Amino acid sequence: MSEVKSIAVLTSGGDSQGMNAAVRAVVRSAIFHGIDVYGVQRGYQGLLNNDLRPMDLRSVGDIIQRGGTVLQTARCKEFMTAEGQQRGADILRERGIDGLVVIGGDGSYQGANKLSKLGIKTMGLPGTIDNDIPFTDFTIGFDTAVSIVVDAINKLRDTMTSHERSSIVEVMGRHCGDIALYAGLASGAETILVPEVPFDLAEVSTRMAENFRAGKRHSIIVVAEGAASGQDIADAITKNNGIEPRVTVLGHIQRGGTPTHNDRILASRLGDFAVRKLIEGDSAKSCGIIKGELVATDIDMVVSTKKSFNMDMYDLALRLSQ
Ligand code: ADP
Ligand code: F6P
Repeated sequence: MSEVKSIAVLTSGGDSQGMNAAVRAVVRSAIFHGIDVYGVQRGYQGLLNNDLRPMDLRSVGDIIQRGGTVLQTARCKEFMTAEGQQRGADILRERGIDGLVVIGGDGSYQGANKLSKLGIKTMGLPGTIDNDIPFTDFTIGFDTAVSIVVDAINKLRDTMTSHERSSIVEVMGRHCGDIALYAGLASGAETILVPEVPFDLAEVSTRMAENFRAGKRHSIIVVAEGAASGQDIADAITKNNGIEPRVTVLGHIQRGGTPTHNDRILASRLGDFAVRKLIEGDSAKSCGIIKGELVATDIDMVVSTKKSFNMDMYDLALRLSQ
């Protein structure tokens, strides 16, 4: 018999598509195993406000296909303090809650880790479009964000080709270039600029001018926001070769919309896995999928490791974009 009788779930930090599918999986899996489950509204802020409500099977109906998060999300300064974390743990204990599933990014994981050190069993699910959490091949929301960028580039390509223009598409990713890398490869971009790889704008400008001379009818550069701003790249190119690229900043559009089937499946598998790990008595783990297999890794390890950049894929994108 499991000692876990009651758990809670929250979403925290930047939202991502598939968070709802993860919440649904946590709630339905918990109920399946005879465990009471509470939803915390607005992340750690809601926890400190004691804003918890019981979730039943119907409370997560009709959400698997929705972007955003029905639990809403927040950034909470008070929870960064030791007092805030202690109060959070006390509130959970007073409510009789044995375990907490935290769906969010790196910062949210740190919060979960702190709670676990105060005796609350915690599980982290990687919910962020950035794909910057190690020990999982993909984070929940990344696949949808990449699809949105690819769709946007397809549209830009039409008008850029008509006018024989160059397009610069700035995508999200402050420290991680994965959205730029995957979307750039999938859309045949000539140049992909990411924070992980140094670049030379004089070389980018020369290559663009040569490509146009060699008969290319458009040129697409995908730049991660953490590498440079799209407008700065455009200005440098104009200065170097006289070409005036058009800049598109996709912004928060990348964080909305219906999740892809990949994100829904990832979220469903991870949500159920987190509940099963809590039932087994496990705590302070990040749930992930590596090469198709479910894995639970110590959050301590996850937050102190930088996700490695896929240079093979980056080189492939370069080879294929000639
Ligand atoms: P993300 O989870 O997407 O990385 P943030 O970094 O904004 O987003 O973190 C979300 C929330 O997690 C913060 O507002 C804060 O409440 C909590 N948090 C972040 N870092 C820590 C930390 N070191 N200790 C405790 N809580 C933290
Ligand atoms: O971490 C996810 C992310 O979407 C980043 O890619 C982006 O830089 C950031 O969040 C934007 O956050 P905010 O919600 O503060 O606009």
